[in-house]
Amino acid sequence: MRLTDAERALLDGSGGVARARAMQLLVDYGRILGAERLVETTNVAGVPGQATPFLRAHFEPEGGQAAIFSRFDLDSDVVFDVPMAGVRTACLQSGVDPLGWRELGKPEAAFIASRDAEDYAREHGVEMLRTCTPYLAGNVPGFGEHCAWMESSAVIYANSVLGARTNTEGRHSTSAAMLVGRISYWGLHVPENRFAGMHLRVDVPVESVFDWGMLGYFVGDVVGEGIPVLDGAMGVPDVVRLKHFGAAAASSGGVELYHLVGMTPEAPSLAAALGPNRAETVVYDAAARRRVWARLNANGQSEDVDFVMLGCPHAAIEQMREVAGLLDGRRVVVPLWVFTSRAVRHEAAAEGLLEVIRAAGGVVLTDTCSAIGNAVPPGTRVVALDSAKQAHYLPAMMGIEAWFGTTAECIDAAVTGRWRGVAP
Ligand code: F3S
Repeated sequence: MRLTDAERALLDGSGGVARARAMQLLVDYGRILGAERLVETTNVAGVPGQATPFLRAHFEPEGGQAAIFSRFDLDSDVVFDVPMAGVRTACLQSGVDPLGWRELGKPEAAFIASRDAEDYAREHGVEMLRTCTPYLAGNVPGFGEHCAWMESSAVIYANSVLGARTNTEGRHSTSAAMLVGRISYWGLHVPENRFAGMHLRVDVPVESVFDWGMLGYFVGDVVGEGIPVLDGAMGVPDVVRLKHFGAAAASSGGVELYHLVGMTPEAPSLAAALGPNRAETVVYDAAARRRVWARLNANGQSEDVDFVMLGCPHAAIEQMREVAGLLDGRRVVVPLWVFTSRAVRHEAAAEGLLEVIRAAGGVVLTDTCSAIGNAVPPGTRVVALDSAKQAHYLPAMMGIEAWFGTTAECIDAAVTGRWRGVAP
């Protein structure tokens, strides 16, 4: 791998033992990936030093948080003093809400481990956004900005909607990037790798968040890990629609970048999005939409719903307003959990939305979600969801039945205890 003089000096220890270890990890990782060089990154989103009770107990004798970062994040033989983040670094979601951990059924040890890890990361310059939607919490990379992000739904948003450049990184590479501001130059950092390889023509109207979630689920299924370009009967999507579309495509498949002709920045035209590639055309029509809906509802059997979960990816303020509006003056009869970021929760509180949701019996939680936190109310057998991503993961993870529908259908289930969603 070609290194600059500054990178070689870091590797040789000019920036201290921790940065040398971070460089070594990135060089080893890049070689395995076939990267010829590293690239400077100015925006890292990972989970540096994140802790569980197990990690805490395991690394306590070696030095606690410093040992977790040295030994676990950077796979180091020695425990070192962790320096400050060298570039802007955000911490993504965790498994615990610091305010709602009891509601989630988490032990106090999980809360304490998470809290102490957070304090440590903050002291090292990490922004504790604690969300899968950093782009809704103040971290919006610029077009062409090289990033090192984890979290598939955030990666696809950054690449596709913002035109930033990132692969789906892991804990080790993001923690290393945090210290040295470098990441492997391969995959979606390389302009020639960003052209679409499949054309999807949308022949049925796609307007609502529900529609966009189903379209995303279809796209991931047919494209796999490829890059699609879409045109056809879609309305202009807002942030919420793009959030649900991308999260779904990154769940049923491994899509990290898509193009919407005339809507996303690297697709002023179909030809521009395809570049030198020749692509087959796949059609999304009403029959395909019905099949997606049926698949997302495949394991729903009982219409007696005993849990409703919203906010995957973490709810935007528009969605908090929608939920509060649908609940106003009503009362839930089964648990309703709405997951969002700390930033949006703060805004929702200021607007009085939290009070409305609470008055209806709903609970607003941050930092995590049912899938990431492995948390559903005790005794849950049937859940209602408005997220294709969550419907993809949660039933299998928790051994429960799931219904997928609109937010309004989910709120109806929360206040009646019955699933009355209808196929599109
Ligand atoms: Fe976020 Fe959990 Fe969904 S972390 S994208 S709400 S699976």
